[in-house]
Amino acid sequence: MAERTFSNVKIECVQGDITEQADMDAVVNAANAQLKSGGGVAGALHSAAGPELAKEGREHAPIKPGEAVLTRAYKLPNKLVIHCLGPVYGQDEPANKLLADCYRNALQLAENKKITSIAFPSLSTGAFGYPVNEAAPEAMKAIISVAPDLSAVSHIRFVLFSESDYQVYAQALEQA
Ligand code: AR6
Repeated sequence: MAERTFSNVKIECVQGDITEQADMDAVVNAANAQLKSGGGVAGALHSAAGPELAKEGREHAPIKPGEAVLTRAYKLPNKLVIHCLGPVYGQDEPANKLLADCYRNALQLAENKKITSIAFPSLSTGAFGYPVNEAAPEAMKAIISVAPDLSAVSHIRFVLFSESDYQVYAQALEQA
């Protein structure tokens, strides 16, 4: 496991499944604009949470690239789900700013709720096609730049599904 601390905020990378982060207050969904179920992270989180997640999502939809909204977590082992719509690579521009907005806006919602811990998947790097070696340093930069402003959130975890994605994020954390 890779780990570093910036302004009293612990940032770590683990290989794993975003639906199995029982020790984290919030998990982040790699959402679609309609906040429905889908493939990848959204599919996994919606099936684990149950149909109430999409029902509550309908009240907030549609969301725009870079936006984040918060719902309850239902059958997931967390308090909250924060849904982020990442940029579709090559379509939503500027992609790096929109990706950074996702991370910053999710952390702002977590702060507003005064929660301590939040787990992110690798936003936009699956169906949305953002190359992981470009996305990982952008994600780290966005999070580290807001770390000094966080007073509630003290533990941020990146949960990477594959060993190779884990290596890319761990290296981005080391080099940040
Ligand atoms: N836990 C952690 N990471 C996962 C999991 C999991 N259970 N499942 C997949 N990943 P994606 P996006 C990884 O496609 O690119 C959806 O259909 C995956 O390997 O979930 O933001 C939505 O409905 C990849 O590295 O998110 C949207 O339409 C990363 O999570 C669209 O896809 C993100 O892949 C969002 O696309």
